[in-house]
Amino acid sequence: METPLRLLLLSLLLVLVCSTSNVVSESTDELVARLLAKVEDSQVTKAKKFFPVLEWQEDLGVYKSEVKLYFHGPEDLALIRDKFHVFDNNMFVTSWVSSCLLEAYRYGGAPKPSPTHLKLALDSINGYRNKDRKFENSIMSFWPQAYNSTSNTYISTPVNLLKLIDLTNDVPFGVIENILKFLGFGDISSIIKTLLSMKDTFRTAFHIPPDFDDTFVNLGLGSLLTSLKTQFPEQHSSWMTSNTNLTSVFDALKKYAYRPFSKDSNVNTIDPRTYFYLRKFMEKSSSDGWDLALTPTWIQDIEETTKLRKKGISMPFNINNVDVTVSANVIYGITSSVLSGVVSPSILNDTGIQQILLNTTNMIAHECQNDLSDRRDLALTYYPSVLEFYWFVARTVFILNENAKHNQLPHEALYKVLHKLEPVLEKHVTSVILKGAKSDGADRLYLEDFLGNGDFDKNNHTLIKGEDRIFTTSMGVNALIATWSIFDGKTSKLYWKSDTPTDVKSSVTKFIDWLKKYTLSGDFKPYNTFFSGSAKGEGTLPFYYPINRLEYLNGTNIPDETHFPTGGPFTLGVQGTIPKAQYDKMLTEKHFGVPTPTTFKGFNSGSTQDFFPFWSSEPYTYATTMLALAQSNNFAN
Ligand SMILES: *[C@@H]1O[C@H](CO)[C@@H](O)[C@H](O)[C@H]1NC(C)=O
Ligand SMILES: *[C@@H]1O[C@H](CO)[C@@H](O)[C@H](O)[C@H]1NC(C)=O
Ligand SMILES: *[C@@H]1O[C@H](CO)[C@@H](O)[C@H](O)[C@H]1NC(C)=O
Ligand SMILES: *[C@@H]1O[C@H](CO)[C@@H](O)[C@H](O)[C@H]1NC(C)=O
Ligand SMILES: *[C@@H]1O[C@H](CO)[C@@H](O)[C@H](O)[C@H]1NC(C)=O
Ligand SMILES: *[C@@H]1O[C@H](CO)[C@@H](O)[C@H](O)[C@H]1NC(C)=O
Repeated sequence: METPLRLLLLSLLLVLVCSTSNVVSESTDELVARLLAKVEDSQVTKAKKFFPVLEWQEDLGVYKSEVKLYFHGPEDLALIRDKFHVFDNNMFVTSWVSSCLLEAYRYGGAPKPSPTHLKLALDSINGYRNKDRKFENSIMSFWPQAYNSTSNTYISTPVNLLKLIDLTNDVPFGVIENILKFLGFGDISSIIKTLLSMKDTFRTAFHIPPDFDDTFVNLGLGSLLTSLKTQFPEQHSSWMTSNTNLTSVFDALKKYAYRPFSKDSNVNTIDPRTYFYLRKFMEKSSSDGWDLALTPTWIQDIEETTKLRKKGISMPFNINNVDVTVSANVIYGITSSVLSGVVSPSILNDTGIQQILLNTTNMIAHECQNDLSDRRDLALTYYPSVLEFYWFVARTVFILNENAKHNQLPHEALYKVLHKLEPVLEKHVTSVILKGAKSDGADRLYLEDFLGNGDFDKNNHTLIKGEDRIFTTSMGVNALIATWSIFDGKTSKLYWKSDTPTDVKSSVTKFIDWLKKYTLSGDFKPYNTFFSGSAKGEGTLPFYYPINRLEYLNGTNIPDETHFPTGGPFTLGVQGTIPKAQYDKMLTEKHFGVPTPTTFKGFNSGSTQDFFPFWSSEPYTYATTMLALAQSNNFAN
């Protein structure tokens, strides 16, 4: 029998055991220590090979994350969300977990992370460096690259997901279907049928180019290690010796930046979903000088996609996009590398780099101020969690304030970044976070997003399971602390800014009280939706948004926007800009037969047959919670 289905069936038959531990008012320090141990214990310290049905491939040094399927609705669908999981080896989680542990140590006085675990993580991260560039580089990929001898290329792919798809090739689906129907899981059998029919789509999407997100997250991690080099000399030098050509990162940033006002057809076209949410910012920018350069997600352009697709490395939908969260990580990576001295401040004298830094900063500020253009599903292209995004933005302000406390910032452009982002975080973002706070009935507060809050019982009553409550609450605390406090390296303490509103401080205290009570109580799942594909249901597919460029990858224009192109792989997007009146008209038209999805009502409001893959990581939840707790416990005022 086919493996995932078998797993699914087995899990369906399993009785749910809820573990509840009795934690009697533990101190914050004790809880922090316990979380550190829990996180480090979850690292893969012995590599495992894929073994059908029994074991996923687990690479040495990786922190655990899993690909799951976001379903909501009746309990049998909720059960798929809960039970279906595929271990994923990626650079991102390992980097973020390591960063959180180091930050909790540096900014929160948490116990020192184990050098051994850190070294394992760094060695693992090192394996995600792009091997297709025939020179030293720090261009990173989300998934490890496997060598394909036929095409003589290294391809970044998820082993477990691909093997799972391969296993489905020789399965008699009818058997599974009948069993599921017999057991009363008709919904599931039709969904599995849909999933299987999407096999080829998934397979293509699983061959991706390197990206600016992982690349700059790696740079941020190296910067953090540099500021901690006396405490972690070996780990610091390990990072430095693996990253000898950081020029490669900045060269790539300039080469692949999205430039809507450029004549270069390779970089002046963007995913129609990006154009949709970003067009108001773009309209503002055009009156601002017709010159804009933003960081995109993928380190690839249309020409390269055309060439490399045959070899198996192409951007999803063959077009680049702008993700506001990725952008926040790029800004952090640039800022932290200059502040830590990993990169010389003179890099910001490069007008190309300075423009991307400041244009992207302005874009992030605009999106924070305008609630992600009311389209978080498109603007946070790969990161469904809004609070995670706020924290990613606030981290940049936090390190700028830390460095500005005793010294001049090393470049004037960094003041511009600080003065642009700080007020938006202090006003609008803070107010959004505080408004989202909910009381648990006692004097504790929590935040939550959408995970597990769209199921309903037999009587059609909505169930609120709060499966991302721990993660979201800790991210809210981290965002508020990064916005409103300044770290002083001399005392190793955090200080609230003198104008911090009292409700910020009191809310942080109440969030922390909630985290202390519930993080390990077993009442809530430690899940998150820290990552996802760009498609999250029908309304998020690129095909249904206005475009002015549609062509086969060989460059041949496709005039017909009513039927799906059948002549081979194609690219689609908005090239340059479209005048507002014309775009507004296009919004009222159908694209490939579907009306433009102009609104987003939430991930729990669509059809229950609509689902999307997402990534959840328990160690990441515990690491962010640990960071929140440790920092909240390290204030001097
Ligand atoms: C560094 O990267 C650049 C590309 O950005 C490349 O041209 C150069 O050769 C690399 N340097 C070394 C020493 O590999
Ligand atoms: C290797 O590349 C060839 C040619 O692009 C392709 O047909 C084949 O499927 C690839 N093999 C794997 C294991 O991805
Ligand atoms: C950047 O350029 C300015 C003026 O053009 C100069 O004063 C400054 O020293 C340069 N900074 C760096 C770090 O090279
Ligand atoms: C983008 O950068 C260019 C060049 O520095 C500048 O003229 C333009 O005003 C900037 N636009 C935005 C929106 O930041
Ligand atoms: C269940 O409730 C939702 C609103 O909460 C409603 O739209 C839907 O029609 C109801 N379904 C049934 C079967 O009653
Ligand atoms: C490009 O591909 C399309 C679709 O396969 C085909 O119809 C067209 O003739 C090709 N054009 C060239 C110039 O090869």
